[in-house]
Amino acid sequence: MCGEKSRRSGLIFYQLPPFKKAEKMQSPYAITPAATPVYAPLAILLHWILAVLIISMIALGWFMTAIEDDPGSAWYFRLHKSIGLIIAGLVLLRLVWRLGHQPAPLPASIARWQVSASKAGHGLLYAAMVAMPFFGIVGSMLSDKDFLFFGIPLPRVFQPNHDLAEIFFEAHSVTTWILVGLISLHALAGLKHLVIDKDGVFQRMWFSRQGPHHGP
Ligand code: HEM
Repeated sequence: MCGEKSRRSGLIFYQLPPFKKAEKMQSPYAITPAATPVYAPLAILLHWILAVLIISMIALGWFMTAIEDDPGSAWYFRLHKSIGLIIAGLVLLRLVWRLGHQPAPLPASIARWQVSASKAGHGLLYAAMVAMPFFGIVGSMLSDKDFLFFGIPLPRVFQPNHDLAEIFFEAHSVTTWILVGLISLHALAGLKHLVIDKDGVFQRMWFSRQGPHHGP
C-alpha cells in the first residue's frame, strides 16, 4: 500500500507515507511535501478536468463572441452551450462531493491570514463556478435560439424573452470576468507554493506517484 486513508474527527483525507528525509526535520513545525495530506483522487480528478474545461470555455466564449457575425459562428455557440452543460453537471458533482468531504488542514507553516485567504478564495471560486454556467444556461433557455446538447434539442422550459435573456447573458459575462480574476490569483498562489515555498501545498492537488492508495 502506498498511502494511508485516515479518519480524524469525522474528516476523511489521505496521508502520504513519510519520506526518510522527514526523519531529519529540525523543527516539529517543519513540513515536507511527503508529510502533507493530499486531496482524495476524485477531488483531484474533478479539479483538473474542470480547470481545463473552464479555462478552454472562457477562451472559446471570447473567440465566438468576436466572430459572432461571421458565417459559421453558430457551430461555436452550440459547442459552447453543450460543453457548458457538461461543466454545470461536473461542478454540481464536485460541490456535492466537497460538502461531504472536508480537506485536511493546511500545513502548520502557512500563515493564518493565508489559510483564511485560501478558504475565502476557494469559497468564491465555487460560487463563481456555479453562478457562471447557471446564468449562461438560463439565458440560453430564455433565448429564441434552439438549445441543443450535441445536436439533441432540449425541452423549452421558458417562453422566449429577449430582454430577460440579455440580462442573464450580461450576468454570465460579469461572472466570467470575476472567475478570470479569481482563477488568476488562485493559479498564481498554487504555483508560488510549487516553485517558491516548496511546502507540499501544490502536491495536495496533484497526482502524486506515491499518492493516495485507492482502497475501498
Ligand atoms: C494552473 C491552474 C491551477 C492550479 C495551479 C491550481 C492549484 C490548486 C491547488 C494546489 C489546490 C489545493 C489547495 C489546498 O491544498 O488547499 C487547489 C484547490 C482548488 N482549486 Fe485550483 N488550481 C488551478 C486551477 C483552478 C481552476 C481553473 C479552478 C476553477 C475554476 C480551481 C478551483 C479550485 C477550488 C475550488 C479548490 C478548492 C478545493 C476544495 O477545497 O474543495 N482551480 N487548486
